[in-house]
Amino acid sequence: MTGQDELQIGIIGAGSMGRTHARRYADVGGCLVVAVCDPTTTTAEALADDVAERTGARPKVYADLGSLLAAEKLDAISVCTPPNDHATAAASALERGVAVLCEKPPTRTGAELDTLAARIGPDPMLQFGMCHVFHPGVQQANDLLTSGRLGDVVHLNVRFAHRFDGLQDSWFADPEIAGGGIMLDTLVHSVSIVRVLVGEPRAVSAFTHTAIPGIRVEDSAVVSLQTDSGTVATMQASWATPPGSAMVDIYGTKGQAVIEYGQPALRYRIGTKQQWRHGEQQSETRSAAGDRYHGQAHSFLTAVRSGHVSDNTITDAQAVMRVLDAAYASAQAGGGAVVLGG
Ligand SMILES: NC(=O)c1ccc[n+]([C@@H]2O[C@H](COP(=O)([O-])OP(=O)(O)OC[C@H]3O[C@@H](n4cnc5c(N)ncnc54)[C@H](O)[C@@H]3O)[C@@H](O)[C@H]2O)c1
Repeated sequence: MTGQDELQIGIIGAGSMGRTHARRYADVGGCLVVAVCDPTTTTAEALADDVAERTGARPKVYADLGSLLAAEKLDAISVCTPPNDHATAAASALERGVAVLCEKPPTRTGAELDTLAARIGPDPMLQFGMCHVFHPGVQQANDLLTSGRLGDVVHLNVRFAHRFDGLQDSWFADPEIAGGGIMLDTLVHSVSIVRVLVGEPRAVSAFTHTAIPGIRVEDSAVVSLQTDSGTVATMQASWATPPGSAMVDIYGTKGQAVIEYGQPALRYRIGTKQQWRHGEQQSETRSAAGDRYHGQAHSFLTAVRSGHVSDNTITDAQAVMRVLDAAYASAQAGGGAVVLGG
């Protein structure tokens, strides 16, 4: 900590997610974005202007992380750069005692994340951006499952799909930068949701497809997995299917719950009844503002103050990356099941 009341924050990568992180820090409060960094000066300046407009204090602008870390005394940074930069940026900050909230996917491969874990040691002040675990509907589903009202989960289905206009010209379609296509980019969230709701996956099978011409990564994927408890989850994701959909459908031995992103609350029904009920937010410390990025910022700032990360830790990230590595191995081998740890 700097000794000042407000945590001093830096934003690394001033694009779309850099802006989202900066705005949520301002919303949650108790912190100030004092530095932003991006090699594209206009992008960095635009984010600095946005922060100034919202907080009244303009952060300093840097072109690279090394200069920023040398000049600033920070409590924490958000790493909002493309995936090829995540491990290096996170390690550089952590080695200077600066806590890190690193966007997803954690790294391009599980091996890259394991190398980072070995470099930074146990219990690092490092949280990853698998933000859907903070989505209000996912948190309500967790409450519902914990209460036992849905019974044991038999299967669940997670679907995230939309059309990604301009994908061809984006770093998201460059495997050297992104590490993979939608299976890495988006199913990182789906696997996190499955883990938080029904536990650790033990076997995975996957199929991928590229529907958009001229793309070097998969733009569509279907993954099935079975958890240690026997629950089966299916996950679909696509960048090629308008109109978009984002939903989680959970079937238990006593009832069903549906999370539809964009709706204010989860809905569920018990037994054979057709009548739907709605989930409730049960704690104001959770994503009370109705937004997963708000919940994530709150969790991370709490972790920085307490000196301990408890959500989306590096251990969680390694577990998710093992599943995604196995999904790629399965897809490359034609879709057969890969047993984790087997
Ligand atoms: N959690 C989510 O819901 C979510 C949504 C979208 C993207 N993301 C993730 O957030 C990260 C950023 O994605 P985005 O959509 O903001 O991309 P973006 O292209 O909008 O922004 C990335 C920015 O990083 C900058 N940059 C590149 N290398 C840098 C470096 N070494 N140092 C500093 N800045 C650098 C680029 O100039 C660019 O401005 C990615 O990992 C992406 O997968 C997460």
